[in-house]
Amino acid sequence: MTQKVALVTGAARGIGLATAKLFIEHGWLVAALDRDTDALKDALATLGQSASGFDYDVSNPNDVERALPDVLARFGRIDALVNNAGVADFGPIEETDFARWRRVMETNLDGVFLMSQAATAALKDTKGAIVNIASISGLRASTLRVAYGTSKAAVIQLTKQQAAELGEFRIRANCVCPGPVRTKLAMAVHTQDIIDAYHDAIPLNRYGSEQEIAEVIVFLCSEKASYVTGQVIASDGGFESTGVGLPALRQS
Ligand SMILES: NC(=O)c1ccc[n+]([C@@H]2O[C@H](COP(=O)([O-])OP(=O)(O)OC[C@H]3O[C@@H](n4cnc5c(N)ncnc54)[C@H](O)[C@@H]3O)[C@@H](O)[C@H]2O)c1
Repeated sequence: MTQKVALVTGAARGIGLATAKLFIEHGWLVAALDRDTDALKDALATLGQSASGFDYDVSNPNDVERALPDVLARFGRIDALVNNAGVADFGPIEETDFARWRRVMETNLDGVFLMSQAATAALKDTKGAIVNIASISGLRASTLRVAYGTSKAAVIQLTKQQAAELGEFRIRANCVCPGPVRTKLAMAVHTQDIIDAYHDAIPLNRYGSEQEIAEVIVFLCSEKASYVTGQVIASDGGFESTGVGLPALRQS
């Protein structure tokens, strides 16, 4: 099989589904992995023949151990791993009990570590790419994100560790930090106040779209990014680069 294969986690909806669609538009095959069985079924109906579904939980080491042989049995190769599966659970520090902390860490951080480790042998064979999805919450701290923000900051460092160590095998590892996108994940934790605050703090003055994030992910997995590794790219409308006072200084 000569067609390239992308393994996308959390591919049943949101940014992961948009990424799977874009890979297919670019001629790739897609292994769409998600633990939401019903959503995955719906997603596969829209993705068509170029995608196959894999119903696994990235936070569960036993699942991960079974998922990779399953993907390889179906496709024979993995050229890109997109660690996109993530959960958001916001709350004040004093109300973040250990169970909530672990719920966030086990998917957002453990899942990225486990999936990447399990895929490394296959990625060595293809001199493939890893793209980890962190968040602007991993770049700049904010309230209520003690678990989420910390998990995403750790994903940024994990990406750099992967780039440092896997470069000699010609595996590239990069990280995308999306700004706010109106997905199910974000809308569950973004109140109207948070939405307004984001608009104020973002130079482009709006949320991003799933497609805009997918474009960066697919670029980083492509040959066009063949000399890019260890990088953290914020696709965030300028949120990370700016300081205070933006709304007051706007001309309109
Ligand atoms: N939407 C935003 O505003 C935003 C901003 C910054 C970062 N992100 C990150 O982008 C990624 C995608 O988020 P989204 O907004 O598309 O979310 P979403 O909730 O729409 O989709 C996430 C998908 O991941 C799956 N998933 C979650 N945990 C899983 C697990 N343990 N194993 C397998 N599948 C799992 C879910 O079932 C779901 O289909 C996440 O890592 C998120 O943290 C999102």
